[in-house]
Amino acid sequence: MAQPRDQWGSRLGFVLAASGSAVGLGNLWKFPYIAWNNHGGAFVLIYLACILAVGMPVMMSEIIIGRRAQTSPVPAFGVLGHPRWAFVGWLGVASGIVILAFYAVIAGWSISSFLQCMKWSFTGYETPDPNAFGDFLGQGTLQVFLTGIFLTVTSFIVSRGISRGIEKATKILMPVLLSIMVLLVLNSFSLAGFGQALGFLFKPDFSEVTGHSVLEALGHAFFTLSLGMGAMITYGSYMKKSESITKASAAIVVLDTVIALAACIIMYSIIFTVPELQNNVGKSTVGMLFVTLPEMFYTKMSLGVVLGPVFYVLVAFAALSSTISLLEVVVSLLVDKIKWSRNKSTAVSALGIMSLSVFCALSNGAWSWASTFEFFGHGEKGIGRLFNNRLFADKQGFLNLFDHFSANWMLPVGGLFITLYAGWILKRPESLEELALTREDGTVHWFYSTWLFFVRFVAPLGIGWIILKVIMGADFS
Ligand code: PHE
Repeated sequence: MAQPRDQWGSRLGFVLAASGSAVGLGNLWKFPYIAWNNHGGAFVLIYLACILAVGMPVMMSEIIIGRRAQTSPVPAFGVLGHPRWAFVGWLGVASGIVILAFYAVIAGWSISSFLQCMKWSFTGYETPDPNAFGDFLGQGTLQVFLTGIFLTVTSFIVSRGISRGIEKATKILMPVLLSIMVLLVLNSFSLAGFGQALGFLFKPDFSEVTGHSVLEALGHAFFTLSLGMGAMITYGSYMKKSESITKASAAIVVLDTVIALAACIIMYSIIFTVPELQNNVGKSTVGMLFVTLPEMFYTKMSLGVVLGPVFYVLVAFAALSSTISLLEVVVSLLVDKIKWSRNKSTAVSALGIMSLSVFCALSNGAWSWASTFEFFGHGEKGIGRLFNNRLFADKQGFLNLFDHFSANWMLPVGGLFITLYAGWILKRPESLEELALTREDGTVHWFYSTWLFFVRFVAPLGIGWIILKVIMGADFS
């Protein structure tokens, strides 16, 4: 007899696992970096608008679809009576694979930064060579090894299933993560650059906003909330019927946003405290998280010997609870659709993803072909250049290309279909029942109509408009 489907053991179980998925490198590495490069204030506002107008409604839509269908994203649409929409599930699985392939590489760096900090804490800080991080990225074997460790730990947890694996792990990871975050924010109050950091983050200047930056804000809203690829459909499929989707979604969205802003406050406070840093931050995506911060911990902060290693535990834990959800999307497909055992599904998915990760791990200097790779060739002119520009913003190298393409294209497009489905295809009584927004006297709560208006009109038009503008090469400024 088939076993009953595994479920989250407690209400908190779902919220912790889903916010674990949402809070990750997106909050700690990506958001502070892109908000910095897009000059703070105005970008942050656009991002917040995307979170509210698109993120929250899509989050609810995904959980509705998952919980109603009780299965993973590919079969889910068929179970709900619309097998033609299965392509949305497939697109999600593809996005999951692409994201995990590069994400595990960056996650791996947190392990080595942690070990480096431990060493400094015990044997004293030595100023590293300015090229140290670049050299580290160029060590191919080490890069592949660290990525492999991260994927192995992720696979171990996923192979144990929902309540015994993912829920148990995130119940430890998330509280530790939150406590470390609070500690670091408290510490930044005492830094001289704190006030300036707040100003940078919250004073908008719209003259700096471009077309790519609006798409980046939207793409990041999807990325940071783990939307547009079925992670929340998958997690929602293990959720009990008695729980409120609206409350859970609100909790996840608020937590994720607060942590992203807190990460900026922590990092920008340090940057504004040390003026020479400001010019160097924007040079590389990883510079801020893996180069600037460790130096600061040991040279400018009295508690640095403790905060340094602790900070990288935070990064590793945040990344881990996200890689778990990325892998789970692929694994649940194999379990639900081909009926493989969880162990076999996990092993096969992880090995497949690892083979792609190798290209990403070697694309930061270790292998020059992979590091300068462009999908449409290196030509100066012509259609190839145009595609490289529109689709990849002229970026190079597997890791950068995977990152850019998944966040800026795959997730928004996936999210567009998901809102269209939830708003126009799924029957009203079905979503109403899942959201449980009918009052006792039989009338519909205003929040339901608001949600429906956003998934039917605001989110699809917003996403569609931004995508169109970027395809046409428009500049928003
Ligand atoms: N939300 C995660 C982060 O911000 C990344 C992620 C994207 C995880 C998509 C799962 C699915 O780091």
